[in-house]
Amino acid sequence: MTLALGIMASGTGSNAQAIIEAINKGRLDAEVRLVFSNKPESKVLERARAANIPYASLDHKAYKDRESFDRDVVDLLQNAGVDTIAMAGYMRLVTPPFLEAFPQRVLNMHPAILPAFAGAHGIADTLAWGVRIAGCTVHFVDNIMDHGPVIIQAAVPSVPGESHEALAARIHACEHKIYPQALSWLAQNRLRITGKEQRFVELLPRQGSSPEGEIQAQATASADYFIVPPLEA
Ligand code: GRF
Repeated sequence: MTLALGIMASGTGSNAQAIIEAINKGRLDAEVRLVFSNKPESKVLERARAANIPYASLDHKAYKDRESFDRDVVDLLQNAGVDTIAMAGYMRLVTPPFLEAFPQRVLNMHPAILPAFAGAHGIADTLAWGVRIAGCTVHFVDNIMDHGPVIIQAAVPSVPGESHEALAARIHACEHKIYPQALSWLAQNRLRITGKEQRFVELLPRQGSSPEGEIQAQATASADYFIVPPLEA
């Protein structure tokens, strides 16, 4: 089913751009109904304008609390006909009224391999800790920050002493591959949240495919990255 997508972002919007390009290339069955930002000056809104996609912003500083802000954001999204949310660098925690408006339809991209380095500074924290493997995660959003069930992750090397910029470039290149893929699985109705704690995401086989016909690969790997579950054509 074609996703009626709302993209929420606060900054540059390179993930928003990757999603828009995947749609334009026919790799993702979705229509972006609204790009929303809590920062009226953010570059992501310029990208939406350039792509002829409706956009809107509300300044959260004008609101007395998070819930009342989220209620107005939900109104904007629902009036645009949005049924699925892709958070892409949206630097606000969403509240229960927001999640209740789009149950199991809110995804987020985080620039680390969760549950490591949750929070607003995933890449800086990765560098500060000196880990050798960095990466990114697409997950369903729940009531706890960077906590919901994981859909897809990518790993990249983290080279000791490298700059934030260098590592971020490697991570972003993977983000732009895995976010359209996760959304495409959602559009194909192939993601099921399972388990007693609703902790796991099962990826269902493609419609009409036999188990034997399914790709047997456990990951997409190259010299530069390692992605699980594997990307599909
Ligand atoms: C990405 O690194 C994403 O993982 C994080 O915020 C950043 C957004 O980048 N949540 P962009 O605005 O999509 O370029």
